[in-house]
Amino acid sequence: MKGLYVLKFGGNAIRGREDMMRLSAEIAELIHDGCRIILVHGGGPEISEEMERRGMIPRKVHGIRVTDEDSLEVAETVLRRLNSEVVGCLQDSGVQALGIPGYFCTVCSRKPPMAIEEDGVTGEVDLGLVGEVSGTDPQCLFDLLNQGITPVIYPIGKDAEGTKLNVNADTMVAGIAAGVGCEEMITITDVPGILLDVNDPSSKVNSLTLGEVDALIADGTISGGMIPKVEACRNALLAGVSTVRMVNGKDPRNIVTDITKGVPHGTVITK
Ligand SMILES: Nc1ncnc2c1ncn2[C@@H]1O[C@H](COP(=O)(O)OP(=O)(O)O)[C@@H](O)[C@H]1O
Ligand SMILES: [Mg+2]
Repeated sequence: MKGLYVLKFGGNAIRGREDMMRLSAEIAELIHDGCRIILVHGGGPEISEEMERRGMIPRKVHGIRVTDEDSLEVAETVLRRLNSEVVGCLQDSGVQALGIPGYFCTVCSRKPPMAIEEDGVTGEVDLGLVGEVSGTDPQCLFDLLNQGITPVIYPIGKDAEGTKLNVNADTMVAGIAAGVGCEEMITITDVPGILLDVNDPSSKVNSLTLGEVDALIADGTISGGMIPKVEACRNALLAGVSTVRMVNGKDPRNIVTDITKGVPHGTVITK
């Protein structure tokens, strides 16, 4: 759908009220210019901090959090708090926003055990209560948008039996972007885009094909939290989203403002 943008940010990119007000002002401007926005957010660093405060040890495999019942409870509590802060900032910027959990507009299924290779040995890790999106109800999001309301989604899903699942926010946003058929899906992160050298921001690539992404995963250039991000981009592209982009939430001037202007910005991934 023309003019519909699905945006996602993580806690490393946008942290605290000042960051959030900066992004909110840009979103308010886009809406004023006629765009429709669906926002999805994560909260990885905040969840890990809260787990540590409670004496729990966060564990991630290829950027995905291994989740038992206690860590699911922490994730949901932290995400709900963050969600109400995000909604508050948008409202303070003049945007009518409503916070909803992922399970309000998606159905998820449990992610199968993940294959890993350690010291040349291949094994499997059971991720626990971790989900991926198996279906999205676009109409419920369109109903909100049609009333002038911007949905703000936190990534807790439910399976068909109603069991709550922790979903990586990049995974959640791809399912939603695919389900609503947006013009563009944009993940806002803490780096300028995909870097050929993770320590050198000037090594950003402007555009990559999925084949080139595979090669960068295979040689270890793309690692950690960037893996679910590029996999999310792949899923969204294969499901028919025409443009997927990664941009820098640390940019003080322009996080998403330029996206409607056709100028090169961040990293665009294409089929
Ligand atoms: N090739 C790469 N280019 C850019 N970032 C990368 C790359 N490989 C790994 N990363 C890491 O991925 C991180 C972004 O993922 P993540 O920490 O999950 O953030 P978010 O909160 O945005 O999901 C970057 O901060 C960086 O450390
Ligand atoms: Mg992440």
